[in-house]
Amino acid sequence: MTVFQKFLLVSIAALLFLAACDAELDELPTPTPVDAALQRLDQEEAEDESVEESEAEEPADEPEAEAAGSDDLEAVFAASGCVACHAVVEDAPPGVGPNVHGVVGRAEEAIASADYTGEAETVEEYLRESILNPRIFIEPDYDPLMPTTYGDTLTDEQIDQLVTYMQGFE
Ligand code: HEC
Repeated sequence: MTVFQKFLLVSIAALLFLAACDAELDELPTPTPVDAALQRLDQEEAEDESVEESEAEEPADEPEAEAAGSDDLEAVFAASGCVACHAVVEDAPPGVGPNVHGVVGRAEEAIASADYTGEAETVEEYLRESILNPRIFIEPDYDPLMPTTYGDTLTDEQIDQLVTYMQGFE
């Protein structure tokens, strides 16, 4: 065998060896940064889903928690959609409806006024009536735009909580 033939044989062997290594590398792909990012996204999504699931199971305990403090009552007011039309921050301009600040005073004034067309005799009754039957008395300077469906869409407990919440706004 000439030196050249030996060299050729060694080269062929080396090439075959490298090809085999390559094939093994193909079987164990190292993740590219893109793969890694996709994997992370998958994991995050899976975590999100599990959070959503655990939230979905919670509502049964919520009402009790909401009865606990004024922060929770404010959350009921927000979750019921009232904030779309009623500001809760003092001195904020009224929205479609009056700012909740001062509602107790307005209620007392309304009940005492000759123009009052509702049936309430106390502030609490007035607030309840305003939610359940908003058209019975239209607050001066406002339009009759308050939804009339809250008696159907809110639970008795939520209505109690909303009334309690608004009674705090002297
Ligand atoms: C689409 C707008 C809108 C939404 C949503 C809305 N209101 Fe009203 N609300 C009004 C308007 C307008 C008035 C004033 C006219 C009237 O007396 O009906 C009013 C009046 C009131 C009053 C009596 C007036 C006063 O001096 O404040 C109370 C109490 C009240 N809303 C509570 C609520 C509560 C609680 C919710 C949520 C469950 C709610 N509103 C949701 C528009 C809205």
